[in-house]
Order: sequence, then structure tokens, then C-alpha cells
Amino acid sequence: MELTKYEKEARCIVDAEVIGESDWVELQRNLEATIPVYDKINNFATFGQVKRWRKKVRNILPREGKILEIGCGPGSFAEDVVGRDFFCLDPIPQMLKIAKPRVNEKRQKRGDLPVSFYEGTAENLPFKDNYFDAICTLFSFRDWYDKRKGLEESLRVLKSGGMIVIIDPAKINKVHGVLGRLWMKYWVGTYARLICKQKNHPWKWLTKTYMSFGTTNKYIRMLEEEGFQNVSGKVIFPGMATIWKGNAP
Ligand SMILES: C[S@@+](CC[C@H](N)C(=O)[O-])C[C@H]1O[C@@H](n2cnc3c(N)ncnc32)[C@H](O)[C@@H]1O
Repeated sequence: MELTKYEKEARCIVDAEVIGESDWVELQRNLEATIPVYDKINNFATFGQVKRWRKKVRNILPREGKILEIGCGPGSFAEDVVGRDFFCLDPIPQMLKIAKPRVNEKRQKRGDLPVSFYEGTAENLPFKDNYFDAICTLFSFRDWYDKRKGLEESLRVLKSGGMIVIIDPAKINKVHGVLGRLWMKYWVGTYARLICKQKNHPWKWLTKTYMSFGTTNKYIRMLEEEGFQNVSGKVIFPGMATIWKGNAP
């Protein structure tokens, strides 16, 4: 029997589409705890590839128009977005507190207009309809507690033809998923344990959310089912991340 969203939440189910409320709150608590070592561990975990992936996303985004980053975290992506009318959103106030000066001081030095920061979630975007020319979300989609609702909201705030770009760890199939899990648990986990100096370090949640995360094809289908057009999902070198793209009709 198919469970309703409410029943899933009540039972705290974590799957490829939904994260139960208590798990999501715990995930957010752990994400906040990563702030002091966030970039250091990401660079190590990806053998420095994360910078190249972020550059790829920046190059895909349009040069003009309003662009929203959902789940901006401590500003690791936004700080290097040159020009553009850029907006950042995140549910964790402490992330925004770190991101705001980090991003806007760099922008000021480059002569770019400041980014506007908003507290909120993908599932309930605090913007009017047809407002953005593009949306990007980097290593955050996996953490959305209701991915379909977040995509529905993204469509609502995108102008017709507007683009969505999503990047997150890749899972091509079950075997690739097992390899990814081992990489996160042992490679990232051991380093995080050393850096954080604690056995129960917050990066354990990376493995947890990856385990329930769907495959590249699963989210191509989801984007199409939610109404996006020209949808693609491409695993990028060296097979550790996927970039999904789509357009609002
Ligand atoms: C791993 S960080 C990614 C930060 C940044 N985008 C980057 O490129 O490194 C994930 C971020 O997604 C945010 N997040 C989690 N659930 C979210 C949701 N439902 N809606 C929007 N953002 C969410 C978290 O608060 C966190 O700051």
C-alpha cells in the first residue's frame, strides 16, 4: 500500500524523495556543525575536484538576469559568481551569517552589486511567481525534505524558459552506489574524524543522505514528471557527481 506524505513523515521515512521531519532537523543540526571545516573536508573528499565542478555550474548559468542559489551553505559557490543579479537562500541562519560577508566582501572588491540573502527552504520559496531566469542548487538537493515540492516551487518562481541546474553526488546504479558509499564512509569519514577530532562527526550524514539518494535517471524522470523540459543528467569526470539541467516550459 502506498503511504501518504504525512504517513511517511510520521514514520520518519527517509527515501529518494522525502526525508522525515525529525531526520531532516537532525541533518540540519549536523550540516551546521560542518561549517568550520566545510571547505577543507570537501576539497579533500573530492581530490580538489569540487572547485572544477563549481566552475562548470557557473559556466552553465546565464550571464544576464536574476539567479537564485538554493541551499547556499557558507557561500562556497556564491563567492566566485562574478557579476549577475544573484540571490542566495538557506534554511540555516548560521550558514547565512557566514556566507553574507564572505560573498559580499569579494563582490565589493570586484565591483559587483551585493547578493541578497534569504532564510527559507526549497519547499517554500519566499519569492513571487516567474521571478528568476535561473536556479542552481549545489550539493543541497540531496538534503531537501520533499524533492518534488522543491522542484514544484522552483518551477513556480522560474520565468518561462528559465533554467534549473542541480549538482550532487552521482549514483549511476546499485554497484556505483556501493562504491560511493564506501568512498564516503571510509575516505571522507576517516579524514572528517581526524579533522573534527570526534568519532561521531557530522559528516556521517553525508553517507546517510547518499544511501537514500536516487540514481541519475531517477531524478531525470522526476524533473520531467514535475514539468521541466529539455531535461538532462550527466555524470561528470571522475564519476563522483552528476549535473542535471532542465528548463521551465
Ligand atoms: C552541503 S551544503 C551545500 C552548500 C553549497 N551550496 C556548496 O556548494 O557547497 C547543503 C545546504 O543545503 C541546505 N538545505 C538543506 N535542506 C534544504 C532545503 N529543504 N531547502 C533549501 N536548502 C536546504 C543546508 O542548510 C545546507 O546549507
